[in-house]
Amino acid sequence: MAGLTDTSALQLQSFGWARDIATPAYVLDVAALKRNLSRAAEIKRETGCKILLATKAFALPAAFPIMREMLDGTTASGEYEARLGHDEFGKEVHVYSPAYAPGEVERLTRLAQHIYFNAPEQIEKNLPTLKAHPSVKIGIRINPGYSNATLGGALYDPCAPYSRFGATPEMLHRVPWKHIDILHTHALCESDDAGSAGLIEHVARHFGDYVRRVKAVNFGGGHFINKPGYDIQNLIAAIKTFRQTFEVDVILEPGAGLVVDAGYLVASVLDLHHNEKDIAILDASASTHMPDVLEVPYTPSIVGAGTPGEKPHTYILGGKTCMTGDIIGEYSFDQPLKPGDRVIFTDMMQYSFVKNNTFNGVPLPDLGILNEDHAYKVIRSFGYEDFRHRLG
Ligand SMILES: Cc1ncc(COP(=O)(O)O)c(C=O)c1O
Repeated sequence: MAGLTDTSALQLQSFGWARDIATPAYVLDVAALKRNLSRAAEIKRETGCKILLATKAFALPAAFPIMREMLDGTTASGEYEARLGHDEFGKEVHVYSPAYAPGEVERLTRLAQHIYFNAPEQIEKNLPTLKAHPSVKIGIRINPGYSNATLGGALYDPCAPYSRFGATPEMLHRVPWKHIDILHTHALCESDDAGSAGLIEHVARHFGDYVRRVKAVNFGGGHFINKPGYDIQNLIAAIKTFRQTFEVDVILEPGAGLVVDAGYLVASVLDLHHNEKDIAILDASASTHMPDVLEVPYTPSIVGAGTPGEKPHTYILGGKTCMTGDIIGEYSFDQPLKPGDRVIFTDMMQYSFVKNNTFNGVPLPDLGILNEDHAYKVIRSFGYEDFRHRLG
């Protein structure tokens, strides 16, 4: 996640489109998305690997036509996301869940062409179902024991102690390898190129005997390929070496790395308060609209704002929920804030609207798109009915 960064008045001017839009609103920046996708396309072109969108991080069907041009399909966390990928994105659908509900695998065979399992016993149990659908490719997720997550410590490290994700090395001799097409591993989180290359080399070094038994290796997500500083040449070289060594296909399934810095959450100041410090209450909330701010935790950047005290007017920004901890962060601004002012949070496409909620009956933000010509379009607005519907 991005930290607090100052942005110039010049940059602020290019956000004129945000001045009059209804808030709160998540806004996809199409130009930024296309920039990100072109890096993915380069990796694909140079290595021949496949790249899937992990819809857990970003699932905006309105953006799928753009993404479909560059990507090979989607990867899902279970039946509903698989259905979304199947119905709305097309191309390949992959799915992994640490456990499947009764009947889920059977239903998935109609939605996904690649189903990954968490343990050898799950594969044995589902083999009769899978054999009835021979076109479905079977994958096994392994826990490679490679920790590289760059945020959140154990919270975001799939290889943390006692992790429930993936077959551990001691289990691998029980895998029915003759039925397995894909070896899967997801061990990264917001990792740089050294992390990506390190994982690939680690799998080659420690799991080569198993790699030789499959047709493809999926190196999961967490490759932060569009984060400034990520050298995709390092990833490209590692994939090329791996493919030459083992003669297998390689799949990547990033989510965050495809949409990092590709959109905003635009909020308005509702009111001001003072309790020893100046406080601004927004129509956007950490608890309901950007839960990762509290979960990771991190402080998102705001266009034109600085760190506390850096600019003349410092405020704590909070949501209108009852949760005391619904605080987005403390920022400074060139001018005093006033009700109606827009506050533009950056890097708000990953793990944002896919995780939001209506706690306190707080309205859900609009979903909008900023086109390349800076024309803004609302894709979907939400109202009372969306709040009511979830309550039964
Ligand atoms: C199995 C799997 N694949 C892909 C991803 C996407 O990761 P990211 O959004 O960090 O790229 C995740 C994230 O949790 C995951 O669990």
